[in-house]
Amino acid sequence: MNQIFSPTLTSAAAVLQDRYRGGVPDVVELNATLDLLFSHRSVRAYLPEKLPEGIVETLVAAAQSASSSSNLQIWSVVAVEDVARKARLAALAGNQRHILEAPLFLLWILDLHRLTALGEARGEPAGALTYLESFVLGAVDTALAAQNAVVALESLGLGAVYIGGIRNHPAAVAAELGLPPQAFALFGLAVGKPDPTRPARVKPRLPQDVVLFREKYEWGDAQQAGIAAYNERLRAFQSEQGLPVLDWTVQAGARVRGPEAMSGRAGLRDVLQRLGFGLR
Ligand SMILES: Cc1cc2nc3c(=O)[nH]c(=O)nc-3n(C[C@H](O)[C@H](O)[C@H](O)COP(=O)(O)O)c2cc1C
Repeated sequence: MNQIFSPTLTSAAAVLQDRYRGGVPDVVELNATLDLLFSHRSVRAYLPEKLPEGIVETLVAAAQSASSSSNLQIWSVVAVEDVARKARLAALAGNQRHILEAPLFLLWILDLHRLTALGEARGEPAGALTYLESFVLGAVDTALAAQNAVVALESLGLGAVYIGGIRNHPAAVAAELGLPPQAFALFGLAVGKPDPTRPARVKPRLPQDVVLFREKYEWGDAQQAGIAAYNERLRAFQSEQGLPVLDWTVQAGARVRGPEAMSGRAGLRDVLQRLGFGLR
């Protein structure tokens, strides 16, 4: 495909370079939406500024505009701005400082409770919700919605970081948020105005040969070579950012080594069952 670089979109081209650092894919065109998507970075340093009036409603409108499996709309969101509640949630999520700094903390709830309650009110069973499939469906829909909100907030000059750490103590988080049974805080999202004195950079991703296959999946020399190249590129990024320099394969390997690397989340199935999820 031809690359079409508009003079006004040179930043998108530069940002693609940062995303891949070599092996930049041949994209069909660059436009403002692609520029925004390619420019994503997690933001963990915010200005101590209140966010504009109506921001939560705007982000939720973007989230609700995402596709929804069978239009079940099986998620909810809890917007937390109260400093004390944010501090308690930050403590439950591994004491992540950026949660305290962010003026807004959104908790994305996989919510099977609403349809269960509606079934009960109508005197009809909602037995499908007790199956693992419904949990997966809910997790997919919740993530699609949240990502729409992230794109929206980035388009408004805000920044955010997802917080999976909120799953370290799901029962305590559910109690803090007053969640009913069959409602689970899947992840958090810390939102704020990025502090320009502590900027975040675009983090390189795996080369496309490693993740993109045509017609059939492949796992061979090309993928191994791509991963080796990525280790080098990520090390360069880490060194520029003053981060510990570590191969991606080592980093990712440590994160998936075993239950001890899961920050207490290895017991999630039991906790979810106690929170009312069937997972059959
Ligand atoms: C579901 C999810 C959970 C995450 N949880 C955390 C978290 O608890 N703390 C954190 O600092 N970053 C968290 N992140 C951010 C990732 O570390 C980040 O997206 C990744 O390193 C890539 O960096 P980038 O977003 O800047 O491109 C999470 C990301 C996702 C998608």
